[in-house]
Amino acid sequence: MAGTPRILVLHGPNLNLLGTREPEVYGRTTLAEIDAELADVAKAHGVALDSLQSNHEGVLIDRIQEAGGSARGILINPGGLTHTSVALRDALAGVDLPVVEVHLSNVQAREAFRHHSYVAGVALGTVAGFGPASYRLGLEALLGHLGL
Ligand code: DQA
Repeated sequence: MAGTPRILVLHGPNLNLLGTREPEVYGRTTLAEIDAELADVAKAHGVALDSLQSNHEGVLIDRIQEAGGSARGILINPGGLTHTSVALRDALAGVDLPVVEVHLSNVQAREAFRHHSYVAGVALGTVAGFGPASYRLGLEALLGHLGL
């Protein structure tokens, strides 16, 4: 619908494999199931979601740049790019939209290389460790911040 506020939901590398990827860490919920739950939350708030998963940093960056003109905020699980990508962080900083970072796993309780996030410094906040509920909680926080 024209005028409906839009939120961009981004899933980074390897998150297309959710359901079968390291289920002891990430659980058995698929990405399609996560997106469906987010769509229900968005609908209840009168908000539209645009969801994209990519294994390619540049694809995510292009989509973030596009969102600058159309979306009200960004919910992102950057996957492994969380811990490596200055370019992703710069893209998020560059569009001047509120960003919420989410992770299925509690990255602080895992290997040391997962303890640093390049994205955290340009995000409103981070939700991590609650499995698929991290996404729902993150979306609700973003919508609350936006007053939606
Ligand atoms: C993840 C945590 C990252 O460290 C990891 O590289 C992922 C998934 C999570 O959702 O828990 O791909 O972002």
